[in-house]
Amino acid sequence: MKRTASQAEKGVVYLIGAGPGDPELLTVKAARLLATADVILHDDLVPEAVIAQCNPHALVTSVGKRCGRKRITQEGIHELMVDSAQRNLSVVRLKSGDPMVFGRAGEELQALRAAGIRFAVVPGITAAFGAAAALGVSLTDRRAASKLIFVTGHHAVTKEQELPVWTGALPEDATLAVYMPGRDYSSLRADLVRNGVAADMPCVAISRAATPEQQVAATTLQHLCEVDPGPAPVLLLIGRAMEHVQAREQAVLQMLEAEPVALPAAENRVQE
Ligand SMILES: C[S@@+](CC[C@H](N)C(=O)[O-])C[C@H]1O[C@@H](n2cnc3c(N)ncnc32)[C@H](O)[C@@H]1O
Repeated sequence: MKRTASQAEKGVVYLIGAGPGDPELLTVKAARLLATADVILHDDLVPEAVIAQCNPHALVTSVGKRCGRKRITQEGIHELMVDSAQRNLSVVRLKSGDPMVFGRAGEELQALRAAGIRFAVVPGITAAFGAAAALGVSLTDRRAASKLIFVTGHHAVTKEQELPVWTGALPEDATLAVYMPGRDYSSLRADLVRNGVAADMPCVAISRAATPEQQVAATTLQHLCEVDPGPAPVLLLIGRAMEHVQAREQAVLQMLEAEPVALPAAENRVQE
């Protein structure tokens, strides 16, 4: 398959990363394919601002399954992709962030391979990278972190038994990015405490990173359960590299308490 295709090819399925939500964070390739594909199958987390970039003549369908609202099964999504490609349409399967990170890409690619459908994967900016940019903090600031660990709070393997988000010792020089952390952080906090993570370990919850609705709540592991993370989607970042965010958010809060001012929208804030 041509690697530089700017037009979506007929009979091909493109697994595309939409990034964290800002349409300007789409790759050039993603934007071109979205503008020319016949069929777009997108997750719930992909915001309207990104959907607006799609070919106006495309058949655009949300195939999200958020919060137990089962509208379509995973097998149903496979069938839609395969059927559309077999009808010689160009198909975009649009996922938030990067399609290969906590996005069921493994199952979808397996279904496409099994049906003999040609496909291509277009990477996107994963939530942790969008969040780091929006926060102005390096996830691997070498003074504090030399390891970056992605984990999910949501496990597909077993529904009966709750699996710990984290087991074993967490290196002091790691940044932990927790995707799908849920709303109750008590078991995550307990897992980390049990494994010797310090009570003063900085934790940052970032809601709707890289969108105009972005919210940031910075705290420590000790107070993690008291935090209001804001509306979904939320990403938790835990580690010493987040100390800077914690200090800055506290300074902003103190300033606002002293003299309330209107802050510019998150995406327009220039960082110093
Ligand atoms: C099903 S996973 C998909 C991850 C996605 N493939 C990625 O690379 O970012 C959904 C989780 O990603 C995180 N997420 C996605 N977009 C986000 C955003 N704009 N702000 C904060 N977290 C986000 C949240 O933890 C959310 O529960």
